[in-house]
Amino acid sequence: MVIFGASGDLTGRKLIPALYNIAADGELPPTLRVVGFARREKTHESFRDELEVMNRKVSRSGHDERLWASFRERIFYHRSEFEEQEGYDALARFLDELDAAGAGGNRLFYLSVAPEYFPVVLRGLAAAGLNEAKPGRWARVVIEKPFGTDLASAQALNAAVSGTFEERDTYRIDHYLGKETAQNLMVLRFGNALFEPLWNNRFIDHVQITCAENLGMEGGRGGYYDKAGCLRDMVQNHLLQLVMLTAMEPPADLTADGIRDEKVKVLKSLRPFADADDVGRHVVRAQYTAGTSGGRAVPGYREEDRIAPESMTEAYVAVRIQIDNWRWQGVPFYLRVGKQLPKKATEISVHFRKPPHVLFNRAAAEESGNVLVIRIQPDEGISLRIQSKIPGPAVRMEQVKMDFHYSTSFGKASPEAYERLLLDAMSGDATLFARRDEVEWAWRYVDQIEQAWHAAANPPPMCFYPAGTWGPPEADALLAADGRSWRRL
Ligand code: BG6
Repeated sequence: MVIFGASGDLTGRKLIPALYNIAADGELPPTLRVVGFARREKTHESFRDELEVMNRKVSRSGHDERLWASFRERIFYHRSEFEEQEGYDALARFLDELDAAGAGGNRLFYLSVAPEYFPVVLRGLAAAGLNEAKPGRWARVVIEKPFGTDLASAQALNAAVSGTFEERDTYRIDHYLGKETAQNLMVLRFGNALFEPLWNNRFIDHVQITCAENLGMEGGRGGYYDKAGCLRDMVQNHLLQLVMLTAMEPPADLTADGIRDEKVKVLKSLRPFADADDVGRHVVRAQYTAGTSGGRAVPGYREEDRIAPESMTEAYVAVRIQIDNWRWQGVPFYLRVGKQLPKKATEISVHFRKPPHVLFNRAAAEESGNVLVIRIQPDEGISLRIQSKIPGPAVRMEQVKMDFHYSTSFGKASPEAYERLLLDAMSGDATLFARRDEVEWAWRYVDQIEQAWHAAANPPPMCFYPAGTWGPPEADALLAADGRSWRRL
C-alpha cells in the first residue's frame, strides 16, 4: 500500500491506526507493506517514530509494544515531489524490491493529496507502469475526498482516473459508509420483516438526519474549510450517502453494483430546485458567532484561524429534501449539519405518522408519533420511541424508549470506519465505496445550491447562530413552516 501525501494528518490519525488495529485483530495480510510517499525529508525510521507517537494517542485498542515492534518494520518512507517522474520510477523499483523480500505483488495506491494533485499522481503512476497489475495480481487506487469541488471538476477527475485505472479498481472513499451503524441500516431495513412494510409515505411522516459537531476550525483546518464550506465538505458526500441508504429500494442482490444501482436512483429522484428563491425556501446556510462550547468561550467563524474576516462560507446547512418517487412522495427529508453545535452526534430519525384516532388525552397525542432513531455515532445503536400507559388506575400515557446499544449487546467497540474500508479495498469489495455516477449525481444536486448562493442578484442570506447552540432560528422556521420541529438531541 502506497500512501501519497503520507506526511498529512490522515496517515497518522486514521490510516496507520486502522492498519495497526486490523493487525491487532489478526486480520492484516502478512504480505502487506506500507510505503509513505511525500515531499518532506524523512527516513524510514523517523517516519515510523512519528507514526508511533500518534498511534499511542489515537489507537482504538491501545498500543501494544510487541505488536507495534513487528508492525513498524512493515512501514517505509519514500521521498519525492509529486511532479517528479523519477520519484515514481524509483518507487516502482522499491516496490519490486519489497516484493522480492516477501510482499505479495499487489498494489493499493492511496491518494491522500489535495485534489489538484490527483491527476499529477495518476500521470506519474501510469508513466512508471504502476497502474498495470502484474500477472495474477491487482493494482487499485483509493481516492480520498474532496472528489472535486463541483460537477465539472468531479467529471474531469473521473476522466483522469478512468484513463489510468478501471472503474472496478477505483475506490472513492466516503468514510461514513464504513461506519458500522451506516452499514447496519441495510440489515435493519431488509433483514427484518417489521420495518420494510412501513418504510414508505403511508406510514412515515418525515425523516431527519442530523450531523452535529462541537468543534470549530481547530488545528489549521480553516484553510481548507473556508474554500469548501459545509455543503461541499459534508452534504455532498456523507449526508447524501445517509439519505441514499435510508431511502433506497431493496437491491436485487448484495453485489457492489446491485446496491449502488439502487442508491444512485435516489439521487436521480431528488427534486431539483426551480430557481434561487426556491433554494432560499428549502436551504438555510449559516455561520456561528462567538459563544461557548463545553464551558469555554470560543470565537465566531469569521474570527477563526485562516478564515477570511468577511467570509461568506457556511459552517452550517439545513436542507429540506424531497424525493420524487412512489415510496417517498410527500415525505420530506430534513438534513442539518454544522460545526460548533452543542455536541458531537450523528443520527437518523424516522418519524412515523400519528395514530389516526386520538383515544387518549390531547397532550399525549401531540407527541404520539413513533420515532425510530438510528444513532450513527457516538453510542452507536437504535432506539424506538413508543407510547406506554403510566401504571395506575387512570389511563395516562407517556413516551418510552426501546433501546439497543452496540457496545452492550455485542460487548465490544465497533471498528473504526477506515479499518473496514481498507480491508474491503484490499479484498476487492467496492460496495462501501462511491461509484462514479453516484459522485456526479450528488454534485448535480449540490451545484444548484452553490450556484444560487453565489448568484450576483439576491442570493439567499447567510444566517447566524451563537457557537454552542443548535443552529439559526431560520432552520427552526424551515420545519415550523411544515408544522414540525427538529428532534431534541
Ligand atoms: C470529514 C470532514 O469528511 O468528516 C470534516 O471533512 C468532518 O469536516 C469529518 O469533521 C467528520 O467525521 P466524523 O467521522 O468525525 O463524523
